[in-house]
Amino acid sequence: MILPMPKYRVGLIGCGNIGTAFAELLTERRQAISAMTGIDLELARIAVKDPAKKRADFLPLSLFVEDPIEVASAPDIDIIVELVGGVDPAREVLLTAIGSGKPVVTANKELIARHGPELFEAAQSNQVDVFFEAAAVAAVPILRPLRESFAGEDVVRIMGIINGTTNYMLTRMSDEGISYDEALSLAQQYGYAEPDPSADVEGTDAASKLAILASLAFKRAVPAEAVQRDGIEGLDQEDFQLAARFGYEIKLLAVAKAIRNPATGEPEIGAQVFPALVEKTHPLASVRDTYNAVAVSGAAAGELMFIGHGAGRAPTASAILGDVIATADHLQRDSYRSVPVGPRATPYPIDDLTHAFYVRMHVADEPGVLSDVSGVLARHGVSIRLVNQEGLRDTQKSATVVFITYQAAERAMREAMEELRSHNSVVEVGRVLRILET
Ligand code: HSE
Repeated sequence: MILPMPKYRVGLIGCGNIGTAFAELLTERRQAISAMTGIDLELARIAVKDPAKKRADFLPLSLFVEDPIEVASAPDIDIIVELVGGVDPAREVLLTAIGSGKPVVTANKELIARHGPELFEAAQSNQVDVFFEAAAVAAVPILRPLRESFAGEDVVRIMGIINGTTNYMLTRMSDEGISYDEALSLAQQYGYAEPDPSADVEGTDAASKLAILASLAFKRAVPAEAVQRDGIEGLDQEDFQLAARFGYEIKLLAVAKAIRNPATGEPEIGAQVFPALVEKTHPLASVRDTYNAVAVSGAAAGELMFIGHGAGRAPTASAILGDVIATADHLQRDSYRSVPVGPRATPYPIDDLTHAFYVRMHVADEPGVLSDVSGVLARHGVSIRLVNQEGLRDTQKSATVVFITYQAAERAMREAMEELRSHNSVVEVGRVLRILET
């Protein structure tokens, strides 16, 4: 006897740029997916603000309805795909779908970064899937490996380049010697940066993605507010030239580490986003343009790297479709996979995190100045590994000096810089950049 092919009806919430791309990909791939998996996925309903609006030709108007909650609770819908973004009403829509026993797929970074644990708990109690691969670094398949392949792994560090817009800007500044403003204007011209670029350049987008990645990597909730961030605003072309001379690229990195508290034996999580000097020979230095990359270090697995397109219409749609197929496969087997994220992680004090630092200063070119500056660094316990004087900077007898330090605590470096900013011999302290420890 030939059993009929199981069919699952997908309810899509939101049909903007990404929603349309997903609908298009599902329609185009439907036959191939059923041939490969034995599952038929039908796009059955789409909730949008204006159901009467003319959409792409392949989407009949009869699919469109207005009320997302009605779709989320409809008995004839099996899987909900939420692509409206933002916290409200997405949170209520997803909780309603989960409460009605439906698995959900979402690309909503903000919602997962802020309310992930609430959704994971609801999904666990209702024994349904919640998949969100597209919520962090889109088509780069990193969340499922963290949930599944790394389920038993003791992850010690997860880091990467997880914002394509800023990576594009930094690549242009490095390759073409252009200014920050010129790089931003190019990124806006190509549609990578929004007219208001703050979420990308201030590092908030990367902080939300890091919160999601770190929560899955360390299996403890890491909220976005626990991620300390420094953006790329105002990075100076002079720093790119100096960095290149010392053998580094400048990259916006997102880094989360588990550090064991010696008193309790428990891991604490330190999470930061910052522009950093990365040795040219390090694999992350060659991640260029809008590419993203994530490197995960496990105690047993060693270091692995995932690289690809972290944003964009088609890559995001691809990640969503992969999740829909995974959840349909679970439905067919009457199973689900819980999200292995426990209670909130204990944050490691950011002030105690250590890095080697690069700092460029504009100082008076007079006897004793270098000894004054190094004296201040020494008093704060910051040890110098390399110092380089660039010679006279202008007619006022001042010079540019670059220091590269050994590992020092964030607090020590900050306090040393505060003291140096008001020091008589220091004209200006430039941007302080951390150096990636390899
Ligand atoms: N603006 C982001 C980026 C994509 O440039 O990577 C959305 O998270």
